[in-house]
Amino acid sequence: MIDARDLRKRFGHHEVLRGVSLSVARGEVVAVIGPSGSGKSTFLRCLNHLETIDGGQITIEGEVLASTDAQGHCRYPAEAQVRRICAKTGMVFQHFNLFPHLTVLENLIEAPLVVQGVARDVAVARAEKLLDKVGLSAKRDNYPARLSGGQKQRVAIARALCMEPDIMLFDEPTSALDPELTGEVLRTMRELAQEHMTMLVVTHEMGFAREVAHRVAFMDGGELIEQAPAAEFFAQPRHARTRAFLQSML
Ligand SMILES: Nc1ncnc2c1ncn2[C@@H]1O[C@H](COP(=O)(O)OP(=O)(O)OP(=O)(O)O)[C@@H](O)[C@H]1O
Ligand SMILES: [Mg+2]
Repeated sequence: MIDARDLRKRFGHHEVLRGVSLSVARGEVVAVIGPSGSGKSTFLRCLNHLETIDGGQITIEGEVLASTDAQGHCRYPAEAQVRRICAKTGMVFQHFNLFPHLTVLENLIEAPLVVQGVARDVAVARAEKLLDKVGLSAKRDNYPARLSGGQKQRVAIARALCMEPDIMLFDEPTSALDPELTGEVLRTMRELAQEHMTMLVVTHEMGFAREVAHRVAFMDGGELIEQAPAAEFFAQPRHARTRAFLQSML
């Protein structure tokens, strides 16, 4: 579903991604962990074109989003094609990014109406189903300011799902939340995984990575240091940097 090869990204002289390769199969849940500043968010942002890459190749469901020619020039297809490919992925951010001036329902239907051109009654029906799924039907007509952090994040997940993506990207969805609110968001994510949603999750939640992810990847200093099936990753980390990081997380 996602195939990232040798991704390179610089901000000025700072090489933030130094040849990162990772693929995610259909229905697979992959957790990405690593210290602050290691490039995890940048990697996710490149996958749905919130950042452009300086080198490498990104393929989403068999379609090339970005590639690099023999001269090292990075190419993207035409804008409409980029938008179509990026619509296959939905993204959830640490800070929810809900529209404060729209109700919960309006937050969910905004993009389907405006971007997908879906009929209003279809979008509303879809949104109501998703609000029920994340347990927030009662908040349908509330504004985000009236919700807890955990509720906001569940709305953000429902909003991403409302675009019917095939792949969900999560960037530390619980790190702005208190522990008790973290649980309800992780529960929603676990349910999505059980429904075989393809998920790439940047997280500091080692419990979630261990229990829900099929595979765990460790990034440090702009490189993907190692990846392995979750049980193996935690039981036998191969690299000293991975071991040191896992120690620091205990
Ligand atoms: N827009 C930007 N301009 C310049 N530098 C940036 C930009 N975005 C990120 N960086 C730098 O790139 C590096 C990687 O950042 P990134 O946000 O990807 O790390 P991260 O692994 O997600 O960290 P965290 O766990 O703190 O979220 C950092 O050194 C950061 O300062
Ligand atoms: Mg980050």
